[in-house]
Amino acid sequence: MHLLHTETIVSSSLTITTTQISKCMFNKDAFSNGQIASKIWLCEELERLEWDSVLTHIYAGWHGITAFLLLSRGKFSVAKIESYDIDPSCEQIADAINENWVFNNWQFKAYTADCNQMVAGAADLVINTSVEHFDSMQWFDNIPNGTAVVLQGNNMPHDQHVVNFDSLDSFVNTFNLHKVVYKGSKEFNYPDLKFTRYMIIGLK
Ligand SMILES: C[S@@+](CC[C@H](N)C(=O)[O-])C[C@H]1O[C@@H](n2cnc3c(N)ncnc32)[C@H](O)[C@@H]1O
Repeated sequence: MHLLHTETIVSSSLTITTTQISKCMFNKDAFSNGQIASKIWLCEELERLEWDSVLTHIYAGWHGITAFLLLSRGKFSVAKIESYDIDPSCEQIADAINENWVFNNWQFKAYTADCNQMVAGAADLVINTSVEHFDSMQWFDNIPNGTAVVLQGNNMPHDQHVVNFDSLDSFVNTFNLHKVVYKGSKEFNYPDLKFTRYMIIGLK
């Protein structure tokens, strides 16, 4: 792989290096405190429910960190995780990060897809921790009723966020699940940035 381009941007309290390697856009922000702590929170709450999954779909799965954490913690029983992202550079990165489970009979695989289109396969669990990046509810409307979902959104102003939620109630009301088994908020306070992430787990 050839290093083509490196740029440094400042986000929250951290200096982030975004490195373009070959055609892959690796973004160190995927490993930032705000991202990892949110996904550990997701793992902890999902594990507490003692659910299991034959096929989990992760929408807008980016670098595949949610899958990596769920699979490496080993507390949530899941036979297969498929991660979908519209950005084709994510596929190679997510597969590399989750190589242990790609190797393990494709227990993990990343794909390039627009989640606003129908995503093939009968997932019994859909995870989307990037709902603030979706400019339509099509992805949610396409999920069959009765499917288990884990959703995260936030109130962070950001040029790539097309939806903002000003409270946990507005987040819960937007998705209007048939049954909510968990809802909660997590505060992030950095010297130059404060935001709240919201999470709901339930049945659509
Ligand atoms: C910055 S990342 C993820 C941030 C998020 N807080 C998280 O959970 O990691 C947002 C991702 O959403 C993806 N995305 C946006 N719209 C999408 C769509 N319609 N279908 C699939 N992926 C999408 C982007 O390509 C990007 O990788």
